[in-house]
Amino acid sequence: MEHKQISTDKFSNISYRVGGNGPAIVLLHGFPLDHTLWNDITGLLTEKHTVITPDLPGAGQSSLPADEELSMENMAEAIKDILDAEGVNTAIIAGHSMGGYVSVAFAELFPEKLAGLAFVHSMATADSEEKKEQRRKSIELFNKGGKEPFIRQMVPGLFSERSKQRLSEDIKRCTEVALKTATGSLSAFYNAMINRPGRTSKLYSKDFPVLWIIGENDKIAAPENLMQQTTLTNVNFVYVYENCGHMSMIEFPDLLAKHMLNFIKYCYEREKE
Ligand code: MLT
Repeated sequence: MEHKQISTDKFSNISYRVGGNGPAIVLLHGFPLDHTLWNDITGLLTEKHTVITPDLPGAGQSSLPADEELSMENMAEAIKDILDAEGVNTAIIAGHSMGGYVSVAFAELFPEKLAGLAFVHSMATADSEEKKEQRRKSIELFNKGGKEPFIRQMVPGLFSERSKQRLSEDIKRCTEVALKTATGSLSAFYNAMINRPGRTSKLYSKDFPVLWIIGENDKIAAPENLMQQTTLTNVNFVYVYENCGHMSMIEFPDLLAKHMLNFIKYCYEREKE
């Protein structure tokens, strides 16, 4: 994968990796990680596809704007700017968790650029009031220097109990990536999540296929919540992974790559019709 960077009006530096050839897929990481989240599957996709893995603004090597204001919409605009820089007309946007909140904002803002949308342990609904309150408390904790204990507790909880036993090195690697994320970025991401609108009604009116990847043991994007959203669009591919938490790209990378490849094939064949 080649490392590239662009600057936009809003963001002085957006960093991304690009590799492979063919119909494009963009993989957006979740909170509080970066593009390396996808390392176990990018090689399985680049044989037939152009794969783009950005660092969202404030994560990895992409800078947070000076005003520290992030929204799902301004992050979606940064993704559109990457596609323009790469000369990509239409892409499948796959978002993990927070990356999915950006993807669905992208779908609303730039439907003409979208060949398909993949929610990887993610959703189109807004936060509940309770969830917003939890996030505000976490922001207070970050401001009081509580980033490290927060991350050390949060990251292992993203994996299923079974995965925790066999993937301790991966959990360590994800923890290290998360610890590098600046406190200001963590707060900016949580504020963006608190402020995001629900977009389920927007999905109804759109005509693009949607892939849903659901972890049976996911505590953040719980199956019972996601299943209710899986009939929002006309064409839905729905997979529930057994013994999987919130991190299928690390817990079951071969299975995820297989389902993504099938989905990408379907989306681009449909575009040709
Ligand atoms: C993520 O994995 O991106 C976050 O946990 C999402 C969230 O907190 O809603």
